[in-house]
Amino acid sequence: MKIELTVNGEKREADVWEGESLLFALREKLGLPGSKNACEQGECGSCSVLLDGTLVCACLVLAVQADGHEVVTVEGLAEDGQLHRVQEAFVEAGAVQCGFCTPGLVVASHDLLARTPRPSDPEIREALAGNLCRCTGYEKIIDAVRSAAAAR
Ligand code: FES
Ligand code: FES
Repeated sequence: MKIELTVNGEKREADVWEGESLLFALREKLGLPGSKNACEQGECGSCSVLLDGTLVCACLVLAVQADGHEVVTVEGLAEDGQLHRVQEAFVEAGAVQCGFCTPGLVVASHDLLARTPRPSDPEIREALAGNLCRCTGYEKIIDAVRSAAAAR
């Protein structure tokens, strides 16, 4: 079946089957591989995207549920060729190692800062609790979010 949705500000169409996840459609049908598929069970947050402004795991959303809705992926955060300040902060803080978790963490951090411009450390940890990282030990990630908040 055909779905129509807005992805990163652009109207897009995709042919999907009823059981297909939004994550699969984004990566395989719409050419947006930024959202990662690490568990496909809603456990790791590597597939985090915004659906109508709400942070979701794209692996847990059916593509058909996004029909007529608005999706923002990590590819949609940079503007005019400039990295989003959260992306810059991750790079500057050394919060990226293998990078597999990074797109989801960047989207989740962006969502946090949009809601809470000056989050406390516990608020940062709470907001990112659903995003797993096997490499960094999280401290550099927390540093990056603090730094992005300070850069507003
Ligand atoms: S791939 Fe979606 S939560 Fe892990
Ligand atoms: S940087 Fe490797 S999983 Fe986070």
